Amino acid sequence: MKRVVLAASLFAGLALLYVPVPASADDDDVVDYRRHLMSALNEHAAALGQILSGAAPDADAAVHIEAIALTASVALKAFEAKVPGGQSRPEVWSNWADFSKRMNEFASETADVAKLAQTKGNDAALASAAGALTCKGCHDVYRQEKK
Ligand code: HEC
Repeated sequence: MKRVVLAASLFAGLALLYVPVPASADDDDVVDYRRHLMSALNEHAAALGQILSGAAPDADAAVHIEAIALTASVALKAFEAKVPGGQSRPEVWSNWADFSKRMNEFASETADVAKLAQTKGNDAALASAAGALTCKGCHDVYRQEKK
């Protein structure tokens, strides 16, 4: 009886050893992921641009602002692993304090605009959206567009 219990606990121990460990993302995945986040920002910002120019329905403004704020809220984490490449300049990591400050401000300002859309409506949100979209300011310093 005792031996059966021992065997069973040995098996349990072995089973623990075989718990699959999630594969760690390799460097290409890290770069791809942050690029996907940026592309998502780009599409929603372009949709907002259409709304602002009257080419798409105003009523959708809150959705796009919310999507930008949500994406912005996870963007910094996607740059935490120091993996040079893509269109990132090395300054992303050598000036991390400034880069992360910009990204955090971008996330919190777009979250404020998303909140404004909920409380004051689309027009109020659209009026302050442009000021929160600090895309270019960051790109001028930290992104190297490949031509
Ligand atoms: C705090 C800095 C920062 C902010 C804010 C920011 N970006 Fe970026 N963006 C980057 C960096 C760095 C890259 C280069 C990423 C890479 O390829 O490694 C990038 C890349 C991109 C790319 C290229 C993606 C690709 O396919 O390679 C697009 C498009 C883009 N950003 C759009 C936006 C838009 C639109 C916004 C605002 C709504 C925005 N970004 C806000 C830093 C920022």
